[in-house]
Amino acid sequence: RRTAILISGRGSNMAALLAAAADPSYPAEIALVLANRADAAGLARAAAAGIPTAVVESRPFGKDRAGFEAAMSAELDRHGVELIALAGFMRVLTEGFTSAWAGRMLNIHPSLLPAFPGLDTHARALAAGVRLHGCSVHLVTPGVDEGPILAQAAVPILEGDDEAALAARVLEQEHRLYPAALAWVAAGKVTLQDGRAVIVAPPA
Ligand code: GRF
Repeated sequence: RRTAILISGRGSNMAALLAAAADPSYPAEIALVLANRADAAGLARAAAAGIPTAVVESRPFGKDRAGFEAAMSAELDRHGVELIALAGFMRVLTEGFTSAWAGRMLNIHPSLLPAFPGLDTHARALAAGVRLHGCSVHLVTPGVDEGPILAQAAVPILEGDDEAALAARVLEQEHRLYPAALAWVAAGKVTLQDGRAVIVAPPA
């Protein structure tokens, strides 16, 4: 399936998806990397890998989220995109956009959802004193970080951890988890039952 990766920054998850998709047997083809900021470092990395890139600056749209999304949609259409993987994409999407892409848009979040939705997850996990932390890949619904969970990976929180150490431990798992979860969706192995994701093996 033709997949767009949406980024706002560094793009290390993007890079993990590109690496997985370089294998011809991988079920998603990365057709576009789209950033909402021209200074997103991931853009250069995608271009170096020979992937088409686009920038739709969100800032000029201000509070006009639907206007920004219409501009993004034009790029997505132009590249024949069928699936979207949000990878460090720092814009909240409207209900209109999320419903248009229901079941076809994934996000990676650096916590074990439903714990710690939103920002600063590593600092909040440390402050809460939890012993396990991690990351989640989920389908995107209008509620931020609330969609059906596809996959999770847990890491321990260790004595002496600071935010950077914990973030690095989680990130390593993100890079492993996201390619696996995108593959399930792209291969049509995910169905929804009672609002939860069920991973099924397609009939042979
Ligand atoms: C990741 O921790 C991701 O889970 C979160 O933002 C960070 C993006 O990092 N949503 P990168 O741009 O993929 O390196």
